[in-house]
Amino acid sequence: MPMDIQQDKAYINGTWTTAADGRRFSVKDPWTDERIGEVPDIGRAEANDAVIAAHAAFAPWAKKLAVERADVLWRWHDLVQVHARTLAELMTRECGKPLTESIAEVRYGNSFIRWSAEEARRLHGEVIPTDQADRRLLVLRQPLGVVAAITPWNFPFSMITRKVVPALAAGCTVVLKPSEETPLSALALAALAQEAGLPAGVLNVLTTTDAQGVGEVLTTHPLVRKVTFTGSTAVGKLLMAQAAGTVKKVSLELGGNAPFIVFDDADLEAAVEGAMASKFRNAGQTCVCANRILVQRGIADRFIPLLAEHMSALRIGHGLEAGTHLGPLINEKAVAKVERSVADAVAQGAQVLMGGTRSGKRAFHPTLIVGVTPGMACFREEVFGPVAPVTVFDTEEEAIALANDTPYGLAAYVYTRDLARSWRMGEALEYGMVGLNTGLISTAVGPFGGVKESGIGREGSRHALEEFTEMKYFAMAGL
Ligand code: SIN
Repeated sequence: MPMDIQQDKAYINGTWTTAADGRRFSVKDPWTDERIGEVPDIGRAEANDAVIAAHAAFAPWAKKLAVERADVLWRWHDLVQVHARTLAELMTRECGKPLTESIAEVRYGNSFIRWSAEEARRLHGEVIPTDQADRRLLVLRQPLGVVAAITPWNFPFSMITRKVVPALAAGCTVVLKPSEETPLSALALAALAQEAGLPAGVLNVLTTTDAQGVGEVLTTHPLVRKVTFTGSTAVGKLLMAQAAGTVKKVSLELGGNAPFIVFDDADLEAAVEGAMASKFRNAGQTCVCANRILVQRGIADRFIPLLAEHMSALRIGHGLEAGTHLGPLINEKAVAKVERSVADAVAQGAQVLMGGTRSGKRAFHPTLIVGVTPGMACFREEVFGPVAPVTVFDTEEEAIALANDTPYGLAAYVYTRDLARSWRMGEALEYGMVGLNTGLISTAVGPFGGVKESGIGREGSRHALEEFTEMKYFAMAGL
């Protein structure tokens, strides 16, 4: 019998907790503004309590056999599967994405639990061939300690499992601060973790509107050994600066400005389908979505109308309504940013072929802009909305120069059928991830992360667990 997973309290030291001063805040459906829940507005003092609880839980959790930790994670994984539909509906209600996407996100998020449970048992150290006869030289991989995880609203479930579960698998304990827009998915996950037998204090969830105050506790507390964050580059820089005071490790998955490059020799249908999948997932609110579409001149006249045709089939609606492709943007600020970006492009001479305006309260029409040049905001900054800005280029060198002309370096996409060009592009693009002939690259088994101002560290893949360990060199002499 599935349990009721929607919670209205924070989770500290294995206890469902209210704020010390009793304050609470509402969680709203971004499409209707209807209040769908209420959670405690946790402050600095309780954040400190959570760190102390996580620290107390660390030694016994780290001492468990890897297989014992893995067993708890497997139970968690199985419970998520049992509750997948309810988790997806909750996610759609709090962040607005279409239910089909939420269902896919629960599956994607759960794949990080599965992968981490599997990898927990494969966190190997090293034996170094010795340089002195009486010595044996080893490298131990030890868990870091308390990890602070700060997660965004655009993937309210999978960005938590992608950070938290590898940390737990490696033997760390976690204090999680989810976005104030989407705390319910985080609490539901914690309820399932508790049900799976995760010991008290190993995972703590702080719901708060005081991102600055609670963030400051987490990034400056001497007992926190690592901060892992997904969100904007501006906030990432701030957290990194705060964490520097106690020399914490940081993993940052920050903003992107993904070029989606289509060469003349591309499979046209595949390129349009890839652009649709990449651009309109979560209404364009992903860090890896195609931000700038760069199309070679010889194919542009066929690519642009076909993209417009596909875009015109997108249906805007409430995420729980069948047939919805695009839900609302997360809040008013997000819509205003997209409006500014479109207005800036128009003011600088670009042409809006389709859309360009908001739809209803908080959604935005799928928007196609052509004649986009490098000076425009939609070329330089993450749009974070369903806007496809197109720039036409002539040569491969020009495409590389345009693509790399940004301080960001998260994801890039290339469509070509030329094998030699594929290699050249894969090597030349200054990005942490490159998708060739695909618009979707995310998977638990691949290392996700960026270069330049898009971040530090990798999530997913076998490297994910290493990010939560310290290497200890162990020199044994006199043997
Ligand atoms: C993100 O937008 O930050 C994550 C997207 C993904 O995991 O595919």
